[in-house]
Amino acid sequence: MISGSTPNVPKHVAIIMDGNGRWAKERGLPRTVGHTKGVEAVRRAVELAGDYGIRYLTLFAFSSENWSRPEAEVADLLGLLRRFIRRDLAELHKANVRIKVIGDRENLKGDILPLLLEAEDTTRRNSGLTLIIAFNYGARDELTRATRRLAAMIEAGELASRDITEHQLASQLDTFGIPDPDLIIRTSGEERLSNFLLWQAAYAEFVFLSGYWPDFGREMFDEALRIFAGRNRRFGGLSESTAAVVG
Ligand code: IPE
Ligand code: IPE
Ligand code: MG
Repeated sequence: MISGSTPNVPKHVAIIMDGNGRWAKERGLPRTVGHTKGVEAVRRAVELAGDYGIRYLTLFAFSSENWSRPEAEVADLLGLLRRFIRRDLAELHKANVRIKVIGDRENLKGDILPLLLEAEDTTRRNSGLTLIIAFNYGARDELTRATRRLAAMIEAGELASRDITEHQLASQLDTFGIPDPDLIIRTSGEERLSNFLLWQAAYAEFVFLSGYWPDFGREMFDEALRIFAGRNRRFGGLSESTAAVVG
């Protein structure tokens, strides 16, 4: 079993939880059953991440493009998120999990925003796993909002254009203060980012698993971490062994 004491456990894992619909379709069930099963997989992922000693876990729960799905499915997904927070917040808090939400918070209707804020607020001081929920999240939207804020600072005379550095831009992103993901996992066999963490993924390792999200558990998580542990990250430089030969 992989655990936090094993070397090469990534500090930050981000997951594109995909395949709920296909999981259900293969069983002749409505998509909604797949989404409900997906919530159980979320619980397993959070618990396992803590066991492995991962410090940050980002879960792509709902993209800014997912609003284009049929109204009933959108309502279903929002309902599940609502129920997840209502039912699991106390337990997550007890487990010392700190919740953070990324994505556009404006124009969210009903009780979703207050619930997300409550989850963040309740767990703000916790020191265990940081669980980042990407909700109404799209990387292009995030970068657009950040750019707008930088432009407003320039207009207000608070910032000069020459002072826009990578750090300055990153500080306007929803993920400010969170280290970049080391590993991005996508389930369901699709191999694309779907507008997830475009800036932050610059040096992430990608692992694409064929299993569907509702089947995610220790076996799939172990497999992804094993693949990650075997990767050689260079960040544009030379790997240690090559550097020794060259040097
Ligand atoms: C992931 O499963 C859930 C969300 C995107 C919110 P999908 O609903 O995308 O399932 P597939 O891709 O249709 O199988
Ligand atoms: C990405 O999955 C979004 C989430 C997991 C929330 P999608 O199922 O929406 O992505 P595409 O449409 O297949 O690219
Ligand atoms: Mg999908």
